[in-house]
Formats: sequence, C-alpha cells, structure tokens
Amino acid sequence: MLSRPRRNRKNSATRNLVRETTLSPHDFIYPVFIVEGKKQKQPISALPGQFRYSIDELLVVCEEVQKLHIPGIVLFPKIDDSLKNSRATEALNKNGLVPRTIREVKKHFPDLVVFTDIALDPFSSDGHDGLVKDGEILNDETVEILAKMSVVHAEAGADFVAPSDMMDGRVRNIRQSLDANQFKNVGILSYTAKYASSFYGPFRSALDSAPRAGDKKSYQMDPANSREALRELKHDIAEGADMVMVKPALPYLDIIRLFKQHSSLPIAAYNVSGEYAMIKAAGEKGWINEAAVRDEALLSIKRAGADIIFSYFALEYARDYRKNLK
Ligand code: PBG
Repeated sequence: MLSRPRRNRKNSATRNLVRETTLSPHDFIYPVFIVEGKKQKQPISALPGQFRYSIDELLVVCEEVQKLHIPGIVLFPKIDDSLKNSRATEALNKNGLVPRTIREVKKHFPDLVVFTDIALDPFSSDGHDGLVKDGEILNDETVEILAKMSVVHAEAGADFVAPSDMMDGRVRNIRQSLDANQFKNVGILSYTAKYASSFYGPFRSALDSAPRAGDKKSYQMDPANSREALRELKHDIAEGADMVMVKPALPYLDIIRLFKQHSSLPIAAYNVSGEYAMIKAAGEKGWINEAAVRDEALLSIKRAGADIIFSYFALEYARDYRKNLK
C-alpha cells in the first residue's frame, strides 16, 4: 500500500494539523425573540433554552453575546394581537417594538452587529409575509411596505436589514430606498433561497405568526429545486445584496455549496427552529450526545460553505467553546 490515509489521523496533534474546517463563535449570529414589557423572559415550549425577552432582559443577553465574541444578533418580535391588521401597519411604527429595541441595543452595544427581519408575518392578521387580497399574496404592494420598513429599521440604527419574505424585486427596492434616505452604509442580507419548509414550526408558534389560511408555497421555494436557487442568487447579486442566505441549513447543504461556487458574496445559512428543536428533543430523551451532535451539525454547515451561521445554538456553543479553551 503506497497510500495510507490513516497516517494523517494517528493522533490528536496530527489531526489538528490536517483539519480543513474550524468553527468559532465568530461564525455565528444569534436569533432572539423580543416582547413588550419589563423583566420578561418567557420560555418557548418548542425551543428549550430560548425565550421571548423584554428589552431590559435582552440587554443582559447582549452583554453575554458580546463577551463570548458572537458578532451579532437578529431580532424577531412577538407582536400583540391587538396591533395586528391586514395591512401590517405596525411594521412601519417608528416607535414599535423593533425600532425601540434596536435603539436600546445600539446605545449599550454599539459594536454588536444588529440584523432585522424584513417581512410582514409577525405584524399581519393574515400571518403571511406579504399583503393578502382574495387569497393572493400581493408582490409589488408588499415590496413598497418592506422598503419603508427597512428605512424605519435603518433610522433606528440597524446594521443590516434581512428580507425574509421572498417577494420578487425586494432587494433592489430596499437598496434604492435606503440610499435615497442616506442609509448607504446599511447593508442587506437577503434570504435568497428560502424554502417553503416544515422546519419553521417552532418559530411560528413562538411568535404566533403561522398563516391563518393557506401556506407560503407561492412565495417560498419548492424544496425540490436547486437550479431555481441559482436564479434567485443571480437576481439578488444584481439587485445589490451584500450577503446571501440559504434557509433552512441542514436539509439544504447542497444549496449552500452551490452558492459558494457561484458567488463571491458572503454566504449565510439559517439553522432554523425545527433543526434546533430536533437535536434538543433527542438530547432531552438521552438518545444522543446533544453537545456532540450539535457541534457536528454546525460544523457541517460551515464545511458546506457557509461563512455565517444563524443559530439558536450560538450562545451555548460559544459558552462551551470558551470552557474548552480553559
Ligand atoms: C418570517 C421568518 C420565518 C423564519 C424567519 N423569518 C418563518 C416563516 O417564514 O414562516 C423562520 C426561522 C426559524 O424557523 O427559525 N418571514
């Protein structure tokens, strides 16, 4: 035998030398749920270890996020039912929960990178990412609102707006609106290939944002398609996206790799709520070694080509990372 691959695996030091992929807290963005009130830290049943935080409690979380060298967070608001309507008007309220949270976070942690989600679902009484008319999700009318919403978030201090709605042409419209309002330094992370996935279930129950009728298949992508993801990628690059995302992550590692091969933009991947919940549930039952499975899953996302990983595991991963350095 001339070639014996095991020689490069013979001990830990050699394995350290030949390791191709490494993960660190710098790779992560931590998604957080926010709610009105004071001293609120509401558990989310399908997302053990994740909470809906009032702004004061979120600041405590941000302190740890920063201390553990996680670069940033993305905000998801739980909006009271009384504020939801069919035009999602609360999405444009300059003193709404999201803009107030951005201002507080940036006041105390100016260096934390703050991403915001751009879509109407948490604010809409229909639970859709766009406006609904006679069962149809309206594209261009929605895009106009999303562009205004992005300006509201930029005014409050957001670093990146992240359209997750999958309407056509939204990146261009958002870029033009940001520029027209002197926010040329606010970036766009586009959810470029966002699939109509069943893995979003725990997230929708956390925000009570599930569609009241129908599904999201007329705007989110068919899980069967990958060439269509390249079409979306082409659009988002041409329309001015700064970063592109694949979502979910683990069932779509092939799409992450495809993006890496076809673009020089940073690639983000969203390790979504259902992916987190499955590992947590099996861990709680004692069926798997939860931390080891978590690390292997996160590493696979990076190995596939993701530069940035959005994950509910970010905080606990970074805590363990720090412990292991000691
Ligand atoms: C809203 C949005 C969703 C997620 C992020 N932004 C849900 C959806 O599209 O229905 C899902 C995130 C997760 O499951 O962790 N547009």
